Amino acid sequence: MPFGLVSSWNKRRRSKSEDLMSPWIYKSVENWQIEDQTPPVKRRYASLVFTLREMEEATCNFTDDNLLGKGGFGKVYKGTLRSGEVVAIKKMELPPFKAAEGEREFRVEVDILSRLDHPNLVSLIGYCADGKHRFLVYEYMHKGNLQDLLNGIGEEKMDWSLRLKVAMGAARGLAYLHSSAAVGIPIVHRDFKSTNVLLNTNYEAKISDFGLAKLMPEGQEMCVTARVLGTFGYFDPEYTLTGKLTLQSDVYAFGVVLLELLTGRRAIDLNQGKNDQNLVLQVRHLLNDKKKLRKVIDPEMRRGSYTIESIVMLANLASRCVRIDSSQRPTMAECVKELQLIYHMNLKGLGMTMHAFRMI
Ligand SMILES: Nc1ncnc2c1ncn2[C@@H]1O[C@H](COP(=O)(O)OP(=O)(O)OP(=O)(O)O)[C@@H](O)[C@H]1O
Ligand SMILES: [Mg+2]
Repeated sequence: MPFGLVSSWNKRRRSKSEDLMSPWIYKSVENWQIEDQTPPVKRRYASLVFTLREMEEATCNFTDDNLLGKGGFGKVYKGTLRSGEVVAIKKMELPPFKAAEGEREFRVEVDILSRLDHPNLVSLIGYCADGKHRFLVYEYMHKGNLQDLLNGIGEEKMDWSLRLKVAMGAARGLAYLHSSAAVGIPIVHRDFKSTNVLLNTNYEAKISDFGLAKLMPEGQEMCVTARVLGTFGYFDPEYTLTGKLTLQSDVYAFGVVLLELLTGRRAIDLNQGKNDQNLVLQVRHLLNDKKKLRKVIDPEMRRGSYTIESIVMLANLASRCVRIDSSQRPTMAECVKELQLIYHMNLKGLGMTMHAFRMI
């Protein structure tokens, strides 16, 4: 195993003194790095370590005015550091029976994200591990998450070229994770979904939440996991059935997000009838039928922003990403190339200049 975070952590616990055995006594991130087979990739900036006091100050004592959202790990607040930098602060708030799981996710997030540096992955500025308190400090993403932008009320709906730009950014982020360029071996994200695609003011997409990420053992194309983890609606059916995790599980989830971009619908919509709750099941059979496809295009998307040809191409790509047989799905590198072509074809079809293409 190249570096199994948890097993190494357990090994350390067994071999060190009583103090070091307590998961609540904090050790700096270097102490839970594992012997790599390959040298770690250098980041531009090292992660900062914050105190609880600094987290309280940054968020005005976690006032609701600063609340950005809430997820399975806890609440996320907007904050301002002493340096003046505006950040997003994720506060771990879990019931006692989930604390160990949360601690593990926290460590994986810091360990993996602090090694990564890519314009389409959210930057981890630092973390706080003060007593039992755990915080993750990220760059602030002004536009929030993709799902809210697609389904939110009030916001002007994104046009097609913006949606393609977001898809391309997310695809590049995943392709980077899947390549060995990131940490020397491929990484599966395992929780790719529209709420984990964050957008900055220029609608540049950045992938977040690496707590479930898994490093692929060297020379292996899949690994068997004890538990199937991820989010309902984005689960790769093959992984769900067999427990065998591959890079292609992320490709499936990416296909679901492409369908959300195309239709403006949620991956799982509990307001729909029993047979229409799952987006993939609802639209899969329509994706390669040009006539029926028109019925699933997001009605709130500006008509003048897309050509039917580019919609057909994207629907075809999405349908291949969500194939049940994982070996039949494209790789993320192939998705990036296809999306570039789709973006270009759309602009060309609308009679727009190549200048706009070079801008992305
Ligand atoms: N760096 C950030 N900048 C701006 N907003 C953020 C940032 N990180 C998270 N958020 C906001 O906080 C919300 C909650 O994030 P969180 O990752 O905790 O949960 P989630 O991804 O929505 O769901 P889950 O925990 O179930 O996976 C996000 O949906 C997003 O809108
Ligand atoms: Mg998230």
